[in-house]
Amino acid sequence: MDALELLIADHNRVRGLFTRFQAAEGSNDGEAARLAATIFEELEVHTKIEEEVFYPAVSSLNDEIHDLVTEGIEEHHVVDSLMAEAKELEPSDEAWAAKLKVLIENVEHHAGEEEEELFPLVRKALDDKARSDLGERLESMKASLGAPTAADKAHLSTEELNRLAREQEIPGRSSMKREELVATVAPSS
Ligand SMILES: [Fe+2]
Ligand SMILES: [Fe+2]
Repeated sequence: MDALELLIADHNRVRGLFTRFQAAEGSNDGEAARLAATIFEELEVHTKIEEEVFYPAVSSLNDEIHDLVTEGIEEHHVVDSLMAEAKELEPSDEAWAAKLKVLIENVEHHAGEEEEELFPLVRKALDDKARSDLGERLESMKASLGAPTAADKAHLSTEELNRLAREQEIPGRSSMKREELVATVAPSS
């Protein structure tokens, strides 16, 4: 699939986890801690496929892209540090909640910047075939990291996809085409 669609699907899956985390925090702290662990796993896979496959593939396309990629790597670094620090704390520690809050703000900013600035430039610089080949490379790296790929969810019925998207608080789900839902939902909630 198109590399940009794959990365946007990852972003929306994580945005859904953020919504659920914020709803659980304070009232159901066991659930909040479980969701935080899922958020960390998702971010680790996503930043890895971007840093090892996507960013190197697009960085030299033009100067503007190069600058945004350089900034993106630094933003990943901030998120990595916050995750490492949060993992050293107990969820009952007030610093844990503060680190999660700042982490969410940083990821929202970074994902928004990728979608609004970086990805449109890449869409212009790479044709459909190149974006789709790059998407295949991202998918195969995901598979090698043990993360679910779109192929793992392709068998799900439309009804099942809609149910998962609703449970997972996927933003924009009601206007998504089937293939976007397939790429976005996690296989189970
Ligand atoms: Fe990124
Ligand atoms: Fe991203």
